[in-house]
Amino acid sequence: MKQTIIAANWKMNLTVHEASTLVHRLNENIKTHRDIEIILAPNFVALQPLSLEIDHRKFKLAAQNAYIQDSGAYTGEVSFSMLRNLVSYCLIGHSERRIYFNETLEVVRDKVQAAIRNGIRPILCVGETSHERTNGETRRVVHDQVTTALSNLTSEEIEQVVIAYEPVWAISTFGGQVAKPDDIQKVMKLIRHSVYELYGQSAADHISILYGGSVKADTVGAYLALEDCNGALVGGASLVYKEFAGIVDRAYQVAHQ
Ligand code: 13P
Repeated sequence: MKQTIIAANWKMNLTVHEASTLVHRLNENIKTHRDIEIILAPNFVALQPLSLEIDHRKFKLAAQNAYIQDSGAYTGEVSFSMLRNLVSYCLIGHSERRIYFNETLEVVRDKVQAAIRNGIRPILCVGETSHERTNGETRRVVHDQVTTALSNLTSEEIEQVVIAYEPVWAISTFGGQVAKPDDIQKVMKLIRHSVYELYGQSAADHISILYGGSVKADTVGAYLALEDCNGALVGGASLVYKEFAGIVDRAYQVAHQ
């Protein structure tokens, strides 16, 4: 049975001390469930200390970004090879990186490949802006994002990939409109179909697709119940331990319904 993935994207928040306190609280309030994979994505400086603190049976770590090259004169960057053995996952192509840091389709594709080359599972983030949605471009935009990012992988490599569908207009800091589950299901189906076109039925069945965008404990259930939804990527609510623990509880309930 496929695990439900609940991932916390802490974005550029929390000092090392605050991150450590939050992990302590999460540890007290979350039980280990074999069928739920809980992923924490803190900022870079908190990764190393947290890796020494967390219960690795309960939590996996993710980076929020990394650079394509393994080493060299790229001032200010951190490479996937430096994150090897420190994180299990890395967010790639988050809309904040596409919008604020001009990450193109090709940069995102190269990052997916660099992550896999270094034994790190990419969480590929895709999603249309409010403008693209209004213009009826959702399907084209998401299809392009998925097919470019996942081009040229082997059938073993595609198994490492997780996809997060985060419509930009639903992310709390970009407006946080509440997305209708039916609308989300339509796009998730398209994403799975895009994987099918590229890599066939087994890859499409196997790949996990997460929903992200203003997810909270009282809304996550409706998304997790969708046919093509295998988990959630949580921003703001993941900074509040009761809320995040509530999301994990809800995920457990949905998985055991
Ligand atoms: P919010 O949950 O704050 O809307 O953020 C979603 C997100 O961007 C997670 O990556």
